[in-house]
Formats: sequence, C-alpha cells, structure tokens
Amino acid sequence: MRLMFLGDVMGRAGRRAVAERLPALRAEWGLDAVVVNGENASSGRGLNAAQAKEMLAAGADVVTLGDHAFDQKDMMGFIEQEPRVLRPENFAKAAPGKGWRVYEIGGRRLLVVQVLGQVFMSRTYDEPFSILERILRAHRLGTAVDAVLVDVHCEATSEKMAVGHWCDGRASVVVGTHTHVPTGDAQVLPKGTAYLTDAGMCGDYDSVIGMDKTEPIRRFVTGMTKERFAPALGEATLCGLVVDVRRDGLAEACWPVRVGGRLAQAGPPAR
Ligand SMILES: [Fe+2]
Ligand SMILES: [Fe+2]
Repeated sequence: MRLMFLGDVMGRAGRRAVAERLPALRAEWGLDAVVVNGENASSGRGLNAAQAKEMLAAGADVVTLGDHAFDQKDMMGFIEQEPRVLRPENFAKAAPGKGWRVYEIGGRRLLVVQVLGQVFMSRTYDEPFSILERILRAHRLGTAVDAVLVDVHCEATSEKMAVGHWCDGRASVVVGTHTHVPTGDAQVLPKGTAYLTDAGMCGDYDSVIGMDKTEPIRRFVTGMTKERFAPALGEATLCGLVVDVRRDGLAEACWPVRVGGRLAQAGPPAR
C-alpha cells in the first residue's frame, strides 16, 4: 500500500497546486491513499467547507487540520457532517468533530490520527503521548487496521521526534506539520515506522512560511505592524512524504515529496 501525506496547504497558491497536481500524482505514483493537511488553505487561516470539498474532489482521502482548525467558522458545522475532515484530538474537549477515524480505502483500513504538541504553541493543549497510547492500543497495526498515519502538529522538532519514537513499530508513518519548513530527515525508524519531522507546506517558498515577505520582515526589523499578513501567490511546491507500507502495516521505504515551484526535486519511483 502506498500512502502520501502533504503538509499544510497555504492559501490560494497551495490550493491551486493541490487541485492541479494531485490527480496526476495519484495515477503516476500509484498512490492508494492521500492525506492532506489543510489548516492554512483560507489565506493562512483555517479551511472553509468549500475549500475542503475541493481538496477531497482533487483526490485527498482525508484532510487534517491543526491549531487553525476553526479559524473559518463554517468548519465547526462542516466537520460534523464530513467524516473525512479531522481536527487535532487534543484541540479542546468541547471542539466539534473528531481527532481520529478508521477509513476503509480500496479495501484497506487506514487509521488517521492528529495530535497537537505542547512546546512553543500559542495555547495549552493536553499532553499528546497518552492520547496516542490509548488510540494505538485500541488499533493494533496489522490486525485491527492495515495502516496507521499520525499527523503531529507542533512547533518543536524535539517534541515531534519524541512522538515518532513513541509510535515506532505501532504506526506506519508519523509526520510532523505546522512549521511550514520541510525537514531533511525522512527515514524508517528502527521498529518500522516511517518518519519525517516536518512535511513542509504546500505553498510558495518565496515567502516567510507562506506569507508575502514584506510585512513579516518589517515586523521582525521594526517590531511594528503596518499591514495584515497576506499569503504569497507564486507557484507552490507540494511538500510531504510518500510511504510504501508492507502487509504487516510497517513501512518498507519512504521518500520526501517536493513537486513544483522553488523546491521541486525527484519524487518516488513510479509503480
Ligand atoms: Fe499550525
Ligand atoms: Fe500550518
């Protein structure tokens, strides 16, 4: 089974790249399931229902969110009607929707889970390790489910790496999101979990984490705000990870994804 995960879709540039490139990639790379993080698709602030539908129509089987899950108010109602959209399990006790589900895709059962980390985040979230423990214990890899994908949404590379090792041997893939900068450490961990500290964003990399450069630089240099942040609109690079999953649910191999735009490089071999 071949899975692809794409990192935070950033604004119109990211949405366009997903819509234009994902259908062809699904066929070319023989992808069996695709999970896309959509938390910044609405000009960096959340994801609305119409945009979520576009992503699903383009070939995402599941869309995950993040700390920006409910920046667009219609997501609060939409997530209750659309099981293919997940918010972080530890977002808030009162949050609508769910943080994990098992999806039946092409006859295989894929568990997708999203958790938030605690380090350097703007709000305080419940500790994610015991939450993952409970979910992974209830869904044994290779028996209860055929594959497990964990999206760990947080700032600190250390915390994400700790989550990766915590899940090693119990998940097919653990992939980080939120920083919008892809890391170069894609690997299969010792007990068989594919891991990447941050998938990077699907957005324009001629930017400051997806936003037009001018205002972020001004704020860093002067400490003063002049304008709202606006998403950068140049060609986006689709960034993420492709994982080949064995029959026992562990990873055989993984490859970083960098398609289009400034970070483009070769992807996984065709199947
Ligand atoms: Fe985030
Ligand atoms: Fe993000």
